[in-house]
Amino acid sequence: MIYFVAAVAAIAGMLFGFDEGVIAGALHTLRSQFAITAWDEGLMTAAVPLGALFGALIAGYAADRYGRRKTLIAASILFIVGALVASAITAIWMLSAARLMLGVAIGIAAMVAPLYISENAPASRRGMLISIYQLAVTLGILGAYIVNFALGEAWRIMFLLGALPAFALFIGMVVLDETPRWLVAKGRNQQALAALARIRAEPPESVNVRNELADIESAYAAERSRPAARWPDLLSPVAKPALIVGIGLFLLQQLSGINAVIYFAPTVFQEAGFDTHDTQILATIGIGIINVAMTVVGMALIDRIGRRRLLALGFIGATLSLGLIAVGALTEAQWLDIVASIGLALYIASFAVSIGPLPWVMMAEIFPHHVRGLGMSAATLANWGFNFLVVFSFPAMVSGLGLGGVFTIYALACLAGVAFTFRCVPETSGVTLEQIEAHLKSGRPFNQLRPAIAPAVPDPAAVQSSLALPREDADAILAAALAFSPYRQSLTPLLDRIGPIAYDNHQVRVALHTIWVRADFANTGVLRRAHLGSQASVLNLFLEHIHYSSPAFLSSVGEGQPDGDPEHA
Ligand code: BGC
Repeated sequence: MIYFVAAVAAIAGMLFGFDEGVIAGALHTLRSQFAITAWDEGLMTAAVPLGALFGALIAGYAADRYGRRKTLIAASILFIVGALVASAITAIWMLSAARLMLGVAIGIAAMVAPLYISENAPASRRGMLISIYQLAVTLGILGAYIVNFALGEAWRIMFLLGALPAFALFIGMVVLDETPRWLVAKGRNQQALAALARIRAEPPESVNVRNELADIESAYAAERSRPAARWPDLLSPVAKPALIVGIGLFLLQQLSGINAVIYFAPTVFQEAGFDTHDTQILATIGIGIINVAMTVVGMALIDRIGRRRLLALGFIGATLSLGLIAVGALTEAQWLDIVASIGLALYIASFAVSIGPLPWVMMAEIFPHHVRGLGMSAATLANWGFNFLVVFSFPAMVSGLGLGGVFTIYALACLAGVAFTFRCVPETSGVTLEQIEAHLKSGRPFNQLRPAIAPAVPDPAAVQSSLALPREDADAILAAALAFSPYRQSLTPLLDRIGPIAYDNHQVRVALHTIWVRADFANTGVLRRAHLGSQASVLNLFLEHIHYSSPAFLSSVGEGQPDGDPEHA
């Protein structure tokens, strides 16, 4: 069922890709049938991103107020009307108006469809399910390339074809439920239970369904009494790290130059030495196919190897492949057409497997519920704004800097993406939306979020023998371990209180005991760093836990909140 839900919502992505790409093929026929000024042409192309900016701006509000489902139904109606008007125009201004309408629909759907999927998906498959949305975008782009190629001059049919998926989206959303999370946030818990049971294909009384709903309810208990979120709330300490990641990822995704390649692929191939129109178009379709195929590979990887690793891999691959094209173009390599084709293929592969889907996936999971709608609006606004900037500046930049110069800039942006991934991006794979929110509220650095590791069950014999460790020795070893830890500054004053907690915890005591034996501490009284061995990580995790514990807990063991060291403050 959840695949059906994701597939229906993802049709919105297909419309996004299709409506963006289809104008390129229609343009030359339109020019022969209408008197089109440069202004008209600019307006027609820019109408979609412009409308999308507006759509993204209102989508967060609409999705929170009227629900995800009704907002998607409204977007599907706009898609249908836009397609019908575009196919029936008698004057060129009508086409600009229709495309503006399509743009608004795209802006709304690009935000609400991933949100709808994310709020319905189980945590273990959420990444893959939201990626279905990106897969649909790539299918839409490929569909537009193929339709352009196959239909030639029949531009009215090209535009009309967009109404078919839009109609499917409309029917699908009428049939499907609202998300359980939105229903709970509105106090409609009975409906939420029914909706959750249907998506999980289990009876409402099943333990799994009841537990999942209980988790959602407790996370949203405080929501109902809160006033609606406002834009400045996105700058609160809880939401800001998510805002930085959401906007940062889309900034880097767009500055990687993807849409310069998607929109201007034939031009890029022409610059790279492909002489005939047909070879340019076929190479472009090849790009579209790699884009789709590698998105599928990304979907298989996203919940397995994790978001951070996949993102870093994508940015590294994109940096190297864009660098290859740049070097080829700057040195005017003899085999530029071959170098550029290999470079572009590798670039699209790196993008599609990672940089394409991940910003969409992560924007739908990182924001706390209270500001989720607005946060996602802000992130998609960044997507459209930077998309527009890159596409708009590309022709001028190529004529000023040459293909080599432009691709060098894109390569540098991808290099920055590697650094951004390690510094700012959390690991959300396998973590529930409620756990992500709890992490943000704890004030811990966002990039330290990791899936909770099930605590290792210590061997009962080891637990038993660890009782031989005298309390004073345990304290001494803990003090020494703390001296080597990044939390020494904040936790040393609390050492007296932490000692008993450490001793009571089986896992920690077993680790201390192992070190005690290894160092022969009872006889030598000496402890060196090497004695800590692999137990260092158990102790560090324990200390980290204490360091970031709630203020209430800390004041119960010491004199209020620790100062915090500068690195982790
Ligand atoms: C980007 C679009 C891009 C598409 C290409 C999406 O993730 O946001 O701007 O055209 O990928 O596949």
